[in-house]
Amino acid sequence: MEETHRASAELIQSLLMNAQVSPAGFRSALLGVPPLERDAWVNQVFGLDALPDDGPELPPGCVPYLPCPVDALLRLVEFAGVQASDVFVDVGAGLGRAAALVHLLTGASAIGLEIQPGLVLAARELTRRLNLSRVSFVQGDAASLAGHMVIGSVFFLYCPFNGERLAKVMADLEPIARTREILVCTVDLPLPPCPWLTLVSPPSEDLAVYRGTPLGLPEGWPSWGTRRSLSSPREPR
Ligand SMILES: C[S@@+](CC[C@H](N)C(=O)[O-])C[C@H]1O[C@@H](n2cnc3c(N)ncnc32)[C@H](O)[C@@H]1O
Repeated sequence: MEETHRASAELIQSLLMNAQVSPAGFRSALLGVPPLERDAWVNQVFGLDALPDDGPELPPGCVPYLPCPVDALLRLVEFAGVQASDVFVDVGAGLGRAAALVHLLTGASAIGLEIQPGLVLAARELTRRLNLSRVSFVQGDAASLAGHMVIGSVFFLYCPFNGERLAKVMADLEPIARTREILVCTVDLPLPPCPWLTLVSPPSEDLAVYRGTPLGLPEGWPSWGTRRSLSSPREPR
């Protein structure tokens, strides 16, 4: 990474430790870094080095830890219109990088669900280091936990698993979508058929944003308000 970007990462890190960075300030600093260097910049701000080893608690068929690219998260935040009033739930949160980044970009609270205890400890240490009191982590199988996240408004899945676990998560989110608007955002993860979800993002190779639509009502039925206006995805500058 270029020296100027390394210096800006160090500056933002120290400002974060003193709780002095607004979402607009963080976003502007990140967008000042060339796209190809943004992942390394975020890792430096967060103090993350090499990828951690996965532990024996990762069940067979579940996907090991791999951080979602910053570029995809920037597009997600922009296209889904994530706001400070949202609660972002990362289903399979790893080291907490995506949860922390979305919080810093938007001010949204964030909850990460993660099955590997070592990763949860590291994620909690990240939030302690960076003073992120509105980012928290729950250790356990997200297939059992996701449906309890009734305060969630934006659910994010960067391919933690598929098959029966994914089908259960989607079935458990549907009752939440009956009560109010939620968004489900996926990166590199085709979903099973979910009649209650409507794709609201144009086709993209990696990112998909869906809005929960209560079953039994025609699309657009005005029984509940759509509080967010979804924008067209744009390449982050
Ligand atoms: C591809 S990584 C995504 C990490 C994170 N969302 C990010 O973008 O930085 C998938 C994560 O899901 C976790 N995971 C896999 N199966 C899980 C399960 N059943 N319950 C909770 N977490 C799980 C893995 O341990 C891993 O950290």
